[in-house]
Amino acid sequence: MHVEERMLCTDSAGLPRASTVDLEDAMKKAPAYLLLMVAGALTLPGRCQVSTAEFISFESAKPVLRVMGESLPSELKQAGSQLDAKAWAEWVKKEDAVIRQRLETGEEDTLTNLLRFGVTFTKEYQIDREYLGKYGHSTLVNSFGEHRADDLIRALRSPSAGERMQQMRVLLENKGFSFDTAAERDRLKEYLLANLARMRDEFNAYREKQKSAGIEERSQLYADRGISLDTNLWPDFALDLQFRQMLKTGLLKPGSVRRIAVVGPGLDFANKEYGNDFYPLQTTQPFAVMDSLARLGLADPASLELVTLDISPNVNVHLQRVRKAAAKGKAYTVQLAWNSAVPRGQDYLADFVKYWQTLGDQIGAVTKPVPVPPAVAGETHIRAVAIRPQVVTHITPINMNVVYQRLRVPEPELQFDLIIGTNVFIYYGAFEQSLARANLASMIKPGGFLLTNELLADKVPSQLVDAQRLSRTVSTVPLITDYMFCYKRDPSK
Ligand SMILES: C[S@@+](CC[C@H](N)C(=O)[O-])C[C@H]1O[C@@H](n2cnc3c(N)ncnc32)[C@H](O)[C@@H]1O
Repeated sequence: MHVEERMLCTDSAGLPRASTVDLEDAMKKAPAYLLLMVAGALTLPGRCQVSTAEFISFESAKPVLRVMGESLPSELKQAGSQLDAKAWAEWVKKEDAVIRQRLETGEEDTLTNLLRFGVTFTKEYQIDREYLGKYGHSTLVNSFGEHRADDLIRALRSPSAGERMQQMRVLLENKGFSFDTAAERDRLKEYLLANLARMRDEFNAYREKQKSAGIEERSQLYADRGISLDTNLWPDFALDLQFRQMLKTGLLKPGSVRRIAVVGPGLDFANKEYGNDFYPLQTTQPFAVMDSLARLGLADPASLELVTLDISPNVNVHLQRVRKAAAKGKAYTVQLAWNSAVPRGQDYLADFVKYWQTLGDQIGAVTKPVPVPPAVAGETHIRAVAIRPQVVTHITPINMNVVYQRLRVPEPELQFDLIIGTNVFIYYGAFEQSLARANLASMIKPGGFLLTNELLADKVPSQLVDAQRLSRTVSTVPLITDYMFCYKRDPSK
């Protein structure tokens, strides 16, 4: 079993002492996708708790390997009965790195969304879905792309580039681009526009696939795609609706949620719907979830512990920084933005607006939002909330790949009442989803829940059983239905 173990001790305020893994430091030394540190740590205030993230053992993976048979990855199929614990451990470690490498293509998508939607570096028209479809076939849309690419390159090389541009610059430099000569900038422009064309083709292909795909196929739609960090408030709203339903039907009892894990909280960099780039980078899902649970009386925000599990160094470092700042008494301000230009059904929108209007008030105080730039002023709605440092310090970011890793949580008090993962499992096929399901099941308390907006492959018997499904029509034209699947850890096993 391959385990890299780190201890994270907590002082009396539950804050990490010097032994905390310093991802920030590690990031300076290695490209993001090469960071394979497996840092697992769980904290409880005032105590020194150790937990580890470890690769899934051959023994634990056996039920998945047995049932998936013919649909196993070819290397495993070829190994057949030769596959043993050692070969499995080597294979898993290699595949873990392959998944993490997919973050790089995801970053290229983020860069392309910044190119399409950014409003801080250009006054050119945004390239929405409709325009994207026309890119390459319309001189007008082509000119939007060209101008945007020129403006983006200018912003990227500017000495006063902010955090977003700096991050993208690192990505590009790691890929061998530079900004020094006109010829190098032309090469970069070509690359940016080639990515735009790639995204257009991918969207067309996904649209076609979606026409005939059932929920299962849709839930694995991005299995071959780069992994992106995009996030916005819509999945948090869907989770809020799910919590309400669980409270109503008695699946969750008041005050019953004490420990939760959020798989893949993401980073709001330039999301694919409308790509806001005018406020600081942020992660919102962990806070939105805490706020909903507190509002419904399901959890006490003063004692609720939340662990984030993510493979992205950008996400993990961001949360680590936020936590460090909170330990010094600094609130974390999040900008709660949504865009009314994106079509939604009337009822759905009305309920969302109600949700959004009070979002954050259980865990923080309303503060002045950043100004909305004129280009999106009529359609972007924004509130800001400064989250209390005490709440922020209850979040522990952990670098973990849920497909191939799990946290060792033998003590019942370290197991989770609830694990949440939205827009994460869609990046994986049935085999990987089945492993993730087994990993997460091992971390959830008997009787606890996993909530996800993707249907998890279910050919392999697991301790997580279907407990509730919610679906809601988000818009009628085009027809979009939102799902939330609730799996319960079998209390008898
Ligand atoms: C598209 S974002 C979703 C963000 C947010 N959950 C939401 O719904 O808006 C996907 C997130 O999942 C993370 N992720 C993808 N695969 C993962 C894995 N195998 N283990 C842990 N995190 C993963 C990514 O790094 C990213 O933060």
